[in-house]
Amino acid sequence: MKKNRVGGICLLIILFIFNLSCSFNNSNKKGMGAAKITTQHFGNFEGKPITEYTLTNASGMQVGIINYGGIITKIITQAKDSSWGDVVTGYDSLEGYTQKDNPYFGALIGRYANRLAKGKYTIDGIDYSAALNNNGHSLHGGLKGFDKVVWETAILAGDSSVQLNYLSKDGEEGYPGNLKVQVVYTLTANNAIKIEYTASTDKTTILNLTNHTYFNLTAGKSNTIYDHLVQINANKFTPVDASLIPTGELLEVKGTPMDFTSAKKVGQDINKVIGGYDHNWVLNKADGLQEVASVYEPVSARYLTLATTEPGLQFYTGNFLDGTLKGTKKDIVYNKHYALTLETQHFPDSPNQHGFPSTLLKPGETYHQTTVFTFSIK
Ligand code: GAL
Repeated sequence: MKKNRVGGICLLIILFIFNLSCSFNNSNKKGMGAAKITTQHFGNFEGKPITEYTLTNASGMQVGIINYGGIITKIITQAKDSSWGDVVTGYDSLEGYTQKDNPYFGALIGRYANRLAKGKYTIDGIDYSAALNNNGHSLHGGLKGFDKVVWETAILAGDSSVQLNYLSKDGEEGYPGNLKVQVVYTLTANNAIKIEYTASTDKTTILNLTNHTYFNLTAGKSNTIYDHLVQINANKFTPVDASLIPTGELLEVKGTPMDFTSAKKVGQDINKVIGGYDHNWVLNKADGLQEVASVYEPVSARYLTLATTEPGLQFYTGNFLDGTLKGTKKDIVYNKHYALTLETQHFPDSPNQHGFPSTLLKPGETYHQTTVFTFSIK
């Protein structure tokens, strides 16, 4: 009897110690993984306060996000020589981001990222017209897309994620249905920025969301991206007409300047493409989240990989940057080809191109997209 009681007490003590050690390990892991989030007033827009959320992870990488346009304002990463630098374009204050010709620096794009020919599309026999803002076409959601609205924000438990919500009302910019959009930005312990998009609608609509961050991995040390090595897992791309509307064909990249199947300097063939690269690549991928592209900058040795659930990638080399933007960070002159974008998306003008994957979203369905930018040193 006595023996049994002693045995029982010993077992309890062992279980207690085991439990203590488990919870210590868990809290330790949480402490290592979580980022720290600080907030800063960034101005006012349409009477609403704009806040910059700065996420900093344990290794010191930082990401800034504002609730105007869901814009990524900064990404500060380390180079091989241990120096830190901001690898994205942007401005010192909100006025920069709200200026008329701001080319969507860092912004969330919707409802329809990229171009819709003449803004026209048809759903269930009903013709719709999206707001025109680009040579008679509709670009990146129209006159006031998701990049120019104030998003509701919340810091999620764990301090590594900022959630943004926006309700796009029925008819906004020519799109049907009340559309609820949610975007969660997470900075992970392994230097990745994860962007998770979800959306639902109460009427059938079209939807194509992306983020429009411009990268220059030299962090201001070079004013072009010609020496960045880009690799894209895509055997095909969607050629466009002179106004950048897809012709509907899927062409092989092999033997053309569009071939990035092996890492290639952006500057190698850029002069063979009028204006520079501004095309949608048809990613070689199955459904689900998959690594699809990478960018390497040899001087800083910064290496960026891109994974996505989307079927397409708009690789754009800042062809329309012309040095005229005001209030830029450190007064940097953003000239042509200063930076590049990697816009994960469905193909441009899909609603009018029957061979392209559908961008329809129906009531009862949930739109999901995940895109991950991971930074390292190679
Ligand atoms: C890109 C688009 C370019 C240009 C740019 C914004 O996504 O492909 O043609 O419009 O946005 O200046």
